[in-house]
Amino acid sequence: MATKESKASKLISALKPGKAPASVPAKATADHATPLLDARKAGKEATPAMLQQAAKDNLFLHFTRHSPYQNMNMPIITKAEGHHFWDINGKKYFDGISSLFSVNVGHGRERLAEAAAKQMKKLDYFPIWSHAHAPAIELAERILSYAPKNLSRVFFTTGGGEANETAWKLAKQYFKMTGKPMKHKVLTRAVAYHGTSHGALSLTGIPSMKKMFEPLVPSTFRVPNTNWYRAQDDFANEEEFAMWAANRVEEMILFEDPDTVAAFFIEPVQNSGGCFTSPPSYFKRVREICDKYDVLLVADETIDGFGRIGTMFASERYGLEPDMLVCAKGITSAYQPLGALMMTEKLFEPFKHGTNIFSHGYTFAGHPVACAVALENLDIFDEEDLVGNVARNEAAFKKTLEKLKDLPIVGDVRGAGYFYAIELVRDKDTRESFNDEESEKLLRQFLSHHMYENGLYCRSDDRGDPVVQLAPPLTIGQKEFDELEQTLRHSLTLAGELFELM
Ligand SMILES: Cc1ncc(COP(=O)(O)O)c(C=O)c1O
Repeated sequence: MATKESKASKLISALKPGKAPASVPAKATADHATPLLDARKAGKEATPAMLQQAAKDNLFLHFTRHSPYQNMNMPIITKAEGHHFWDINGKKYFDGISSLFSVNVGHGRERLAEAAAKQMKKLDYFPIWSHAHAPAIELAERILSYAPKNLSRVFFTTGGGEANETAWKLAKQYFKMTGKPMKHKVLTRAVAYHGTSHGALSLTGIPSMKKMFEPLVPSTFRVPNTNWYRAQDDFANEEEFAMWAANRVEEMILFEDPDTVAAFFIEPVQNSGGCFTSPPSYFKRVREICDKYDVLLVADETIDGFGRIGTMFASERYGLEPDMLVCAKGITSAYQPLGALMMTEKLFEPFKHGTNIFSHGYTFAGHPVACAVALENLDIFDEEDLVGNVARNEAAFKKTLEKLKDLPIVGDVRGAGYFYAIELVRDKDTRESFNDEESEKLLRQFLSHHMYENGLYCRSDDRGDPVVQLAPPLTIGQKEFDELEQTLRHSLTLAGELFELM
């Protein structure tokens, strides 16, 4: 026992941020020094140390614990190519989650840079407020061509959260304009993430992420997700469980009064919590329920869209016809910020008349450069048949990751396409999970550092139960699956030893 504990602490303390070499202290007070500007003016390149210092002194990173950076260096990423990126020290990493579930065609595609430059030279920017431009027009037609056939209209945004925000606002206004003004409430699924603005965060089903920002927008309600691994034992099979979960949507609509419920948001494969899939029967039942009570069904495909699940949109794979579909990330493979909300003509219809207007928009939404890059990105999808690559390799990816199930810490491997989660457990037989303290030690103190040290960038997450997530670029194949499996095996074996799992 004592030996094992000391081995565990040794592993963790070896990886502890404070031990990182050549760490520079962060500034204590603002002095407005401008070493980078001075270097730029002198025609000199900033050194890594200068960048590190300026990063610590000036940046506020997103979703980041800043305390470790008081005495350790921030990772600074300098270049990327294919499914790899490099940090400022020249160290190479496998980009196991396409940076942020985004770089679907892989890094370093020169033609996307060229498409951006070409567009900038022709029309650098014009808003899509009362005007249109060719890249937005062409892109709207293009993404609708991949979408479920009932969708026929596109509202551009700059990302997924804004598109969810837009969908909720549109649902509220639509019902106000069509004689059902009380319909404004929204149902979403437990543990689902839909963005960070007040509206999108209100849709999010992760209480810990919300509590610092309460009170949020009222009128959102949670229904169960489709976490089959954690389902009660009394369901005969996944179909039966999924039907139970779908029926909770009807129950919640009735609890809240159908006359007040406007929309239900779902991700076809739910990211947060760890890649929860559902059988097609779930989506069929949810569609029936939404139709019965005139509730709009919104598919949030911020991650699932653009080939991630092996079809251009995941809705296609599951036979889902949503009233609105949110997409972002893979639309440009993150080479430019862009999101979109697609909708049925029914939702646009009221805006064709009189003085009606949707008083909502964003300066940079549908930016011509972003749309031009998106079009080129989609050309790459077509030319390289990336969606076909995912569909053809999905079974092999799953099989390779499932090899990890021989490790005592691996409870479940689940997902679809190139989107997988590995759930980590204390006890495989009972499915006992780690408590909060253990999860902190497992994921933050050990696993994420260890995988990164070993050159693998992927997501370790405990917004639900602890999982490691993979969402690699859609370009990879068996060789890379094996590499991922080997690196994960190494880290997860040690993680199991930390908790003395044999
Ligand atoms: C399902 C889902 N919805 C919405 C968002 C928010 O997207 P964005 O960060 O582009 O606003 C994300 C981000 O990861 C997401 O995964």
